[in-house]
Amino acid sequence: MELKSVIESRRSIRKFLPDPIPDEYINEILDAARLAPSGGNIQPWRFVVIKNPEAREKLNDFTLGFVANAPVTIVCCSDLDASRSYRERYKELRKAGAFEGVVLDMPKSSIQKTNVMNIDQIKGSLNLNTAIAVEHMVLRATDLGLGSCWVMMFNRKELASWLQLDNNLYPFCLLPIGFANQKPLPRPRKSLDEIIVKVI
Ligand SMILES: Cc1cc2nc3c(=O)[nH]c(=O)nc-3n(C[C@H](O)[C@H](O)[C@H](O)COP(=O)(O)O)c2cc1C
Repeated sequence: MELKSVIESRRSIRKFLPDPIPDEYINEILDAARLAPSGGNIQPWRFVVIKNPEAREKLNDFTLGFVANAPVTIVCCSDLDASRSYRERYKELRKAGAFEGVVLDMPKSSIQKTNVMNIDQIKGSLNLNTAIAVEHMVLRATDLGLGSCWVMMFNRKELASWLQLDNNLYPFCLLPIGFANQKPLPRPRKSLDEIIVKVI
């Protein structure tokens, strides 16, 4: 599909057919996440793929009922330790020539301000990166003829405990995916006039 068609035809899908998703599709979707950009290329996203029927059923204990009806749900996590690899990732980027011939200078006063992040800001920034990877998966799923829905309403603590996630893995959102059993019209959106503050 053309990217424009993917963007225009994507909907949040909350009704799924029981048909299974081919494994190649799941891999394609996860690979779309892998290719997402991230600050300093730290790639903090980590995924748990839930597809066996008992595990799917168990999701009913933690989240909205429609999620368990999807043949696959991806638990999208942020690795809260990912910033530790910042230097390593930066070296890789340099080696790959990402900054060759690029002006990276900025006023010293600004560098000092941007460098200071507290724990909550770091977590927010990691989740921001994970969100980009999630939207890559949403768009690739649409491209493959599948429906999906971002789900942020779930009990993170209980889900993490059931999945026995290491403490550094924060379950950021769920992404149920499957063939759609509904054809929703476009959902309401603000007009461009409402979202463009100014053009200068
Ligand atoms: C960050 C984020 C969190 C969301 N959380 C939920 C959710 O917990 N449950 C749900 O049913 N939909 C959730 N949605 C889907 C939105 O309700 C949906 O994107 C919005 O209503 C617009 O509809 P559309 O996606 O079909 O265009 C979420 C979407 C985003 C981007």
